[in-house]
Amino acid sequence: MRFAVLLLSSALLAAAFPGGAPQRLPLAPQRGSPQDLEIAGDVPGVAQGEKRFVRYADLVKLPQVTFTVRDDENFPPPVQLSGVPLDALLPALGIGGGKQLIAAICDDGYEGHYTGEYRAAHHPFLVLRIGGKEPANWPKGPDGKNYGPYLISHASFSPAFHVLAHKDQAQIPYGVVGLRFFDESAVLHQLLPPGAAVPAMQGYRIAQQNCLRCHREGDIGGTKSPFGWPQMALIAQGNPTAFGKYVVRPNSVNPEANMPANPEYDAATVAAITAYFRSFAPEEQK
Ligand code: HEC
Repeated sequence: MRFAVLLLSSALLAAAFPGGAPQRLPLAPQRGSPQDLEIAGDVPGVAQGEKRFVRYADLVKLPQVTFTVRDDENFPPPVQLSGVPLDALLPALGIGGGKQLIAAICDDGYEGHYTGEYRAAHHPFLVLRIGGKEPANWPKGPDGKNYGPYLISHASFSPAFHVLAHKDQAQIPYGVVGLRFFDESAVLHQLLPPGAAVPAMQGYRIAQQNCLRCHREGDIGGTKSPFGWPQMALIAQGNPTAFGKYVVRPNSVNPEANMPANPEYDAATVAAITAYFRSFAPEEQK
């Protein structure tokens, strides 16, 4: 009888998970090596504000994908990349139900963001091998920096949407030290412009994909720029012309600017982004 029950349950498991039940990644309370991947956010067993660490050796035990990538601008093509799809990390961390937004945190304050929609369109994966090699033997990345500890890439990328002159952008950070898991609807709601005028809503989509990588709002977003949403709102409101110029060509306003230019953004696109940030200014909400 016991034997029959066992047989039945393993048959059920096999039907639910054709490749075998998902493996769970062990989470260490402390960093054991610079190669450990930091895990935070809405993850079972990780309290809010706490971090856990996953070892490289455990990540490579998960089922891997391998692609010859020709259009990742961080690499001279072609390059063979292997790793774990971000979507496969969710069950491996015991995260289930509801939509997740995954943020990839980089050592220089940059943050890549992966919504459910982005993951379904582009299948981003956490790179664990470059040219079949482990991180110790990786080549140097752009600007002579390390690609590691982790980076994210795609088999290939073609934009899945555009808003005005903004085209869906490949989120391909390197120097990734950790992943943070958010309840996607909560984050998207937090970034919604107060009021729902059309230009601000168009700007919302652009800001969420572009500006959020280096500018912060609450507990999400990069920290490469010292200016978060409240400061950007004040600049957009107080000096919309300079704000717009900065977005398109930061160097035209500040010769020392580190922010990348967005030369493809036309007047309507700049107006939408400006309207979006401006709607967060306290004056606008009276
Ligand atoms: C790759 C990182 C990055 C991205 C993406 C980015 N910024 Fe920036 N931004 C910066 C940095 C860094 C600064 C600080 C000044 C500098 O070095 O340019 C900055 C400064 C600014 C400033 C302040 C200018 C001042 O008054 O000094 C504005 C306004 C701004 N960014 C708007 C935006 C908007 C709007 C977007 C999205 C369309 C955006 N940024 C996307 C990195 C970024």
